[in-house]
Amino acid sequence: MLPYQKYLQEILIDEDTLQHRIAELGRLISADYYNSQNLLLICILKGGVMFLVDLTRHITVPHEIDFLAVSSYGKGARESTGKVRIDMDLNTEITGRDVLIVEDIIDSGETLRFVMDVMLARRPSSLRLCTLLNKPSRRRIDIPIDYIGFEIENKFVFGYGLDLDERFRNLPFIGVVNLEMLNE
Ligand code: IMP
Ligand code: MG
Repeated sequence: MLPYQKYLQEILIDEDTLQHRIAELGRLISADYYNSQNLLLICILKGGVMFLVDLTRHITVPHEIDFLAVSSYGKGARESTGKVRIDMDLNTEITGRDVLIVEDIIDSGETLRFVMDVMLARRPSSLRLCTLLNKPSRRRIDIPIDYIGFEIENKFVFGYGLDLDERFRNLPFIGVVNLEMLNE
């Protein structure tokens, strides 16, 4: 038995389904930004990294990528604290650019509201949001999402960028966490 299997209740989205949808999102984004001269994808670290790397390969419009690291959780916590901070800022000026934020999951909305406000203050020419997963049942702050990979129920998930106490981001699928095993 592999170490992750102990925590896996079920596979929610398998690798094929993920990759198929990501290719579709890439096509949608390529069509929408057809005329863009300066598209910049901003990956929210660390959770968004797998999604960014796969998504960028399906976008046919020339674009750049950059990374923004934010944190909102205390170590080991599975609830947003509501206090978000920037751990690592962008290397790129975004003023006057078409910016697309690439995130793993939107839960309460606190993290993305903060990120969007910080980005808007820098005056991009457009700002949109792409998330792989959306958990609408847990939303506390309403934010408009332009591209959604999958809507999921209120379950704690891991894999494909999402961590379980910093581990298992490398799994190629999205799994539901068996919460009973976590408390052992
Ligand atoms: P929010 O601020 O509550 O929207 O939380 C967003 C962040 O919480 C995401 O970027 C994830 O890092 C983390 N998160 C939310 N739900 C989950 C989950 O089910 N598994 C792993 N991380 C999650
Ligand atoms: Mg995250």
